[in-house]
This record gives sequence, structure tokens and C-alpha cells, in this order.
Amino acid sequence: MRLVFMGPPGAGKGTQAKAVAKRYDIPHVSSGDIFRAEIAGETDLGKQIKQYLDTGALVPDEITVRAVVDRLQADDCQGGWLLDGFPRTEPQARALDEALEANNEQLNAVVNLAVGAEVIVRRMSGRRVCPTCGRTYHVERIPPKVEGKCDACGAELIIRDDDKPETVRQRLGTYERATAPLIDYYDQRGLLLRVDGSGTPDEVRRRIFEQLDSEVQDG
Ligand code: AP5
Ligand code: MG
Repeated sequence: MRLVFMGPPGAGKGTQAKAVAKRYDIPHVSSGDIFRAEIAGETDLGKQIKQYLDTGALVPDEITVRAVVDRLQADDCQGGWLLDGFPRTEPQARALDEALEANNEQLNAVVNLAVGAEVIVRRMSGRRVCPTCGRTYHVERIPPKVEGKCDACGAELIIRDDDKPETVRQRLGTYERATAPLIDYYDQRGLLLRVDGSGTPDEVRRRIFEQLDSEVQDG
């Protein structure tokens, strides 16, 4: 199974991608998580890309494509993967097509999570993340059992640097300009599954599973 998850920032891609990756037993590959790990590790790449994430701009295509395509070469990705947050521009989508073609592989589906701007801002302003295991919470909607601590590993939860209101606005603008056109790109290729991303995480998950399970059955 080879899947792409698309949608505006805060749509719930990461939240849902984790559950879907588990169901189909494939690795969850998030370009944002890859970049944040590089920044946390203070690697050369991390130093190069920090300014982009801090301002809500896109990391240049060349750097992004190399980082993601490299990750897809790893052993655990040979049986399939779920890409979360990549591709985000048309050149990235074309680069992914080329990488797939070179391996004689195909995408099974592109899930587009559609959520209105108001819901997005509410979700992102309450987001807390675990810096250790990556699990995501929402202070009101999906609170941890113990305030400020990760249910899974007990680490102290943090607020992402780019969840400041000003940066969120920038990220939404970047999404509209660069990424939203990819909805048509994948629709024209017959790969797009439109999923309503509003409602509770369980409701959204059921909608996604329903669509993907029938996709699997249909081959
Ligand atoms: P990235 O990490 O991909 O950020 P994003 O796309 O802005 O998306 P988010 O992670 O903010 O949101 P999400 O959709 O995963 O939502 P989540 O599940 O957390 O990218 C970060 C940056 O890296 C970019 O700005 C860019 O600089 C760079 N980058 C990454 N990929 C790139 C690429 N391909 N090219 C160039 N640059 C790239 O949910 C959000 C909140 O809502 C959470 O608190 C969650 O608990 C809560 N929530 C989720 N679902 C529900 C629900 N149903 N009800 C209530 N609350 C919910
Ligand atoms: Mg995410």
C-alpha cells in the first residue's frame, strides 16, 4: 500500500496517518517530522532548514525531495508507506512520480482531508506534541490523561514553534498557493479520495478506513 495524505496545516494528517499506517502495517513518513528531527539534532541540514519552518515557508524542493526519496529507499519502506505532508508542490509530485516509476511502483491513493479555516485555527492553537514519540494531543479535544505529559511515554509535552498565530497564517497562505493545486493534479490521475476532516478523530478515522478498505478490495 502506497498512500499520500494531503490537507491544510492542522487538518489532522498526522493524527490520522498514525492510525492508518498501523492498520495497513506500513511506515508513516512525515516530511515535517523528518525536518523537525534534523533541527532538534542540530545537523547541517537542520541548520539549513530551520528558518523555513520558523517562518511557515516551504523548504526548497531540492532539499525536500532528496530527504523524502532517501527515506523511501530504507528497508522498512519496501513493502509500502504512507507519506504525510509530501508532496506539497507540483515539482515534488513530479519527483515522486519519477521515483515510483524508476522502481516500477504505483500510488494506491491520495487522501485529501478537507477542513475549514476556523476549525484549523482552533485545532492548532490547542496542539501539544510529544518531543520523544511524536504523539499529538489537543488541550481540549484530545487531552492527555495527566496534564502536560505524554500518555505513551510520559515525556513533557511541548508546543510546536510554528504554531504561533502569525506563523499559522503564513502556513495557511503557503498551503493555498503551493499545495492546494495538487488536489487537481491527483484528481486528474484518478487517485484522489476526498475525506471530510471535520468531527471527532474517531469519526474522521472511520471515514478514511471505509474509503481505503474499499480501495484495497477493488485492487
Ligand atoms: P508539517 O509538519 O507537515 O505541518 P503541516 O502540514 O502544517 O501540518 P501539521 O502537522 O501542522 O498538521 P496535521 O495535519 O498533521 O494535523 P495534526 O494531526 O497535528 O510541516 C511543517 C513545516 O515543514 C512546513 O511548514 C514546511 O516549512 C516544512 N515542510 C514539511 N513538508 C514539506 C514539503 N513537502 N515541502 C516543503 N516544506 C515542507 O492535528 C492538529 C491538531 O488538531 C492537534 O492538536 C490534534 O490533536 C488536533 N486534532 C486532530 N484531529 C482532530 C479532530 N478530529 N478533532 C479535534 N482535534 C483534532
Ligand atoms: Mg503533521
